Amino acid sequence: MPFYHQLGKLPHKRHIQFRQPDGSLYHEQVMGTKGFSGIQSILYHVNPPTQVSGYRKIRDWIMTLEEEGANRHRHFFTFQHEEKGDCIDGRVYSLANEDCAISTVSASEPMDYFYRNADGDEVLFIHEGSGKLETIFGELSFQQGDYLVIPIGTTYRVVADTYPIRMLVIETTGEITIPRRYRNEYGQLAEHSPYCERDIRVPTQLVAYESKGSYEVRVKARNQLHGYTYDFHPLDVVGWDGYLHPWAFSIHDFEPITGSIHQPPPVHQTFAGPNFVICSFVPRMYDYHPEAIPAPYYHSNVESDEVLYYVRGNFMSRNGIQEGSITLHPSGIPHGPHPGKAEGSIGKTRTEELAVMIDTFRPLKVAKSALETEDIEYMLSWNRKS
Ligand SMILES: [Fe+2]
Repeated sequence: MPFYHQLGKLPHKRHIQFRQPDGSLYHEQVMGTKGFSGIQSILYHVNPPTQVSGYRKIRDWIMTLEEEGANRHRHFFTFQHEEKGDCIDGRVYSLANEDCAISTVSASEPMDYFYRNADGDEVLFIHEGSGKLETIFGELSFQQGDYLVIPIGTTYRVVADTYPIRMLVIETTGEITIPRRYRNEYGQLAEHSPYCERDIRVPTQLVAYESKGSYEVRVKARNQLHGYTYDFHPLDVVGWDGYLHPWAFSIHDFEPITGSIHQPPPVHQTFAGPNFVICSFVPRMYDYHPEAIPAPYYHSNVESDEVLYYVRGNFMSRNGIQEGSITLHPSGIPHGPHPGKAEGSIGKTRTEELAVMIDTFRPLKVAKSALETEDIEYMLSWNRKS
């Protein structure tokens, strides 16, 4: 989505004859969003993308959510989940609403199939590990700290260099975009944006696999998982162009915006989703007013739920937080620094914290799969000093 890109072989105009070395036509596919009104790309396949040799329903995509209880602050130690499965079926859901589902995965094995999400875009945040994302648009290499933005309908497979690989996953029912206020009227990222096009990586390597055999593509659609069998390698695209394609951005390339007094969360915004935002908290200089309090004030985000995923470093305003912790501070009740943290932050000049925040504008529910690693004392943790 960030900008137009093209890769591989293309005919000089769209929708005209484009022939393979044996004289047969390549198979042109227009892949777009919002009917034919949203962003799109045009891909050229060696094989017809419609030619499946089998199909089946694998399972319902079940996410069991907790019944609503007392509105309270929640804390989950996601690193306590066992390493299991691959990057798709190993996902353990923590929180969800109508707009997004948040999960973590510590995958212990490679994917022996391809996958695509036909319900919406996905963001994979790589917490630990490296490897490559193989997609129908080409390959994207990744490492710790990368956000991988994968548009709806993209056939892909995560190939890690070693296992386990650990990531945070945000699935949406819509699009992940760059915040509108960062872009000028032409779509270019403006000078005040905390990142620019040069920080964004797009696929640069396109391999059109022509091998035959039996390949499975698993598709999440309408909250069911389906399997489609092909007699040819599904990554058989020789060229494509357009705005719809996966891209990567490293949290380490997010340039923090700082001020003389405390800056609010919107300065950390990285992506926009439907009714939610994703923000990056990165190492930065603290506020430099001589009377500044670097820790945040208490705040009542009465119209949004606030989720923080802690990646590394000492999070300045919290006690008892570990790497991989997820906290939920829901709408309706205030939250803020733990006892002693505001006073303790005075005079400090820098933080090394690294965290991803997701603020949703509609209430989240807790997935039952998160409950086994919950810190059930968290709501009362503002009563104690440690
Ligand atoms: Fe907050």
